[in-house]
Amino acid sequence: MSDWRVPGFTSTGSKRPDALFGAAGGEPGEDAGLPERMLRASGCRVWDARGREYVDYVMALGAVALGYGHPAVSRAAEQAIAAGVVGPLPPVLEEQLADVLAMRIPWLESVRFLKTGAEAVAAAVRLARVATGREHVLGCGYHGWLDWSQGGEGIPVTTRALYAEIPFNDVEGTRRLIREAGDRLAVVVVEPVVVVEPTREWLDALRQETTQVGAVLVFDEIKTAFRLAIGGAAERYGVRPDLTVLGKALANGFPLAVVGGRADLMSGVARTWISSTLATETVALAAAHATLEVFAHEDVCGHLHRMGIRLLHGLHRLHHKHGDVLTGVGGIAEMCFLHFANERLSRDLARGCAARGLLFKRTAYNFVSLAHDEETIDRTLGILEDVLGAISA
Ligand SMILES: Cc1ncc(COP(=O)(O)O)c(C=O)c1O
Repeated sequence: MSDWRVPGFTSTGSKRPDALFGAAGGEPGEDAGLPERMLRASGCRVWDARGREYVDYVMALGAVALGYGHPAVSRAAEQAIAAGVVGPLPPVLEEQLADVLAMRIPWLESVRFLKTGAEAVAAAVRLARVATGREHVLGCGYHGWLDWSQGGEGIPVTTRALYAEIPFNDVEGTRRLIREAGDRLAVVVVEPVVVVEPTREWLDALRQETTQVGAVLVFDEIKTAFRLAIGGAAERYGVRPDLTVLGKALANGFPLAVVGGRADLMSGVARTWISSTLATETVALAAAHATLEVFAHEDVCGHLHRMGIRLLHGLHRLHHKHGDVLTGVGGIAEMCFLHFANERLSRDLARGCAARGLLFKRTAYNFVSLAHDEETIDRTLGILEDVLGAISA
């Protein structure tokens, strides 16, 4: 038994040392050489508890696209702190941010704010159930830790029975499941990118089949919005979901998520209860506002794409050179990772990188940011090459 006061080592599961660096064989925290906890972050750099500096591609699990501590975002957050953070009335900023979002992402006709991605997807599912009067849900990808999409201990079987998974990019399988669920189906929730890009046929099938059975189509764009394009995969691939969920990079690391889309569906909030005390605190709202300003004035997504392509091409070169360790490259330019011949090799790579000042995820996904430049990417590829050479040897 570990004696950590925070069981499981940390409250964010994907930041556990064994998630990032592979199991050490003992308890987390026993491998003193690894960067297990951090003191601060700036741009694409992170300093661990011992003050050691790293170039980072975890980027707070994709929650930061502009770089850590972006000055304009921090300034906006500081002003919101100076203005009192919260109060008895909804802040002016809430409706203003909804306007800006609708301007940048026109299919967000109306929106509600929440704090976490999991809450926002759950809200989308609730609104779909309200609109359709149906209960069944089909999902694809990860949608957070809440009961509706999870299985296993602690989840009532009756809740689990209302949820099934559709296979990513499998047109026939997806069609069949949607048609089988038919008039019991409230909603199809998909992550539009899962390891690879979606095919046109799959996206078209999702749109056509959900419309056909009268179910709501939700795009969970928590990783993809403000990264593939401001409006995420829907914008890049030209598909229009009924509802969209945003989170992560939306406020560049401040806790904020959005459920939004067709005004008729969103008006369902009047028929159910979706509300959270701190959904309207102003620091995250201000941070999101400032983040959107940066996106309006700089081609952030273009930068992420260029840097991502440079990284991705380099990873492909490494795969060809080190086929004994690597079996492929996953993801897309903006969010990518390496496939390893086995778990042990992925662990060796992540640990070897950390020892050389690089935090590179061994599983989905590594994220570039506005703070990653060509030189950083090239140096990263050099470190990966060194580590792979040492592993191969
Ligand atoms: C696609 C997707 N949906 C939902 C979530 C859950 O978001 P949160 O962890 O903010 O609750 C995540 C988190 O990784 C995600 O990637």
